[in-house]
Amino acid sequence: MDEADRWKTAAARAALEHVRSGMLVGLGTGSTASHVVRDLGRRLAAGELRDVRGVATSVATERLAREAKIPLVELPASGVDLTIDGMDEVTPTLDAIKGLGGALTREKVVAASSARLVLIGDVRKRVPWLGETAPVPVEVLAFGWRRTVERLRELGAEPALRLRGGEPFVTDTGQWVVDCHVHPHFDAAAFAAAVDAVPGVIAHGLFLGMAERALLGGPDGIEELLRPPVIDGAPA
Ligand code: A5P
Repeated sequence: MDEADRWKTAAARAALEHVRSGMLVGLGTGSTASHVVRDLGRRLAAGELRDVRGVATSVATERLAREAKIPLVELPASGVDLTIDGMDEVTPTLDAIKGLGGALTREKVVAASSARLVLIGDVRKRVPWLGETAPVPVEVLAFGWRRTVERLRELGAEPALRLRGGEPFVTDTGQWVVDCHVHPHFDAAAFAAAVDAVPGVIAHGLFLGMAERALLGGPDGIEELLRPPVIDGAPA
């Protein structure tokens, strides 16, 4: 296990401290979230936790959860108690970019249904502002994708259709992904709202104001970022 993997494992372990017996848990996608799935499976098998069920955010996570013998259910109308998921970037105020793994739509549906969202990663994912190291992934309908890409360009991004082996990358939901490189200090909230309004867009990877905390593994242990309190509708 290399250093980065140890940091991710530590973050996963810290996040699992928030899981209680009887909870319905959103299971994230990616290398960091996979540690959560495996460790949760171990804790259930050891009897340290009981009656925990999961909602998987991707086909890969579904497979992993079955291997770990975590009972899976479809997302119920009432949502889930807690989601633990990785991220590609997170700011000190807990805005995040997700979706470099391509599971952003299912991840967003599950995260938005969660009473609590805990993001995990390593300290290299902490950025002063979004877009510094990662593009904003946008899942789009394959139909009309060229027009959708043009609309994203008109919003100020530099969009690029994600390719795998020279072919469009296909998501679990059968759609394509456009990675939008954004300008430094772009207005993430305005961009998110504008992208949401583009016909052909299914979901984007900006997770703004959704997480309650982020747990980042690093050389000095776990760094915890907490969402700033909101007073009279505005961040304090
Ligand atoms: C999957 O679509 C992504 O949102 C992942 O959660 C994100 O890319 C983090 O993945 P890693 O933990 O593998 O870095």
